Amino acid sequence: MSVEVSVRGVSRVHGPTRALDEVDLDIKAGQAVAFMGPSGAGKSTLLHLVGVMDLPDQGEIHVGGRRVDDLGRRGLDRHRRAVGFVFQRFHLLPALSLLDNVLVPVLPRRVAFDRRARARELLAAVGLAGRERALPGELSGGQLQRVAIARALIAHPPLLLADEPTGNLDSVTGQEIVDLLLSVREEYGMTMLVATHNPEVAAACDRVVRMRDGRIVGDDRVTPAEGVLDRIGRLG
Ligand SMILES: Nc1ncnc2c1ncn2[C@@H]1O[C@H](COP(=O)(O)OP(=O)(O)O)[C@@H](O)[C@H]1O
Ligand SMILES: [Mg+2]
Repeated sequence: MSVEVSVRGVSRVHGPTRALDEVDLDIKAGQAVAFMGPSGAGKSTLLHLVGVMDLPDQGEIHVGGRRVDDLGRRGLDRHRRAVGFVFQRFHLLPALSLLDNVLVPVLPRRVAFDRRARARELLAAVGLAGRERALPGELSGGQLQRVAIARALIAHPPLLLADEPTGNLDSVTGQEIVDLLLSVREEYGMTMLVATHNPEVAAACDRVVRMRDGRIVGDDRVTPAEGVLDRIGRLG
């Protein structure tokens, strides 16, 4: 399950800084897009706006054909449920077990699946079977990011946003996380937006959008034969 994302004339301003400056972008359902560019280019701001953790000062954002920058409380809740987010700094809750951390996004609501069984499955899928009761403090950075990826997937999100998911990891561990994200995406087929400085991540995506000073300055589509989207198409 995946959704298309459309960003139209979006600006986000902080005082004198144009974090985003009239950005237009269309992402197809199921596409994996890497956002690259120097620190301060606006990558995080763009991901936050698509996930509606922040709102634009100008322009519109549509996800799955629905406008999301003017939602009321209930619409916002519904949209946020459809988005999985992976952060550079993991953001796990230190007093909760790994299993409970994975469950956090679905704790306050009714869901149509066995949430504990799914959390166990996801922990196993990210290589942490048997560690359900461990606490985050017992884990390495790479393992913490694995838990965060499992948490991002708990509600079957059609859209996965990852903000420098390998930024706090050494290159070997980072590569493992890259491989995990890509296999997860291949398995679930969601749309994926990744802000990254990691060329391996970018190379594995279907498309690389380059940003600078709040604007898109480059947009390269990987040749179809190399794209993950194409592999899914051929499998499906
Ligand atoms: N909450 C904020 N307050 C003030 N300035 C901000 C805020 N968020 C982002 N910015 C500024 O907006 C620009 C883009 O930031 P960001 O989206 O974090 O870039 P990136 O993720 O590409 O490093 C930077 O100049 C940053 O300092
Ligand atoms: Mg950033």
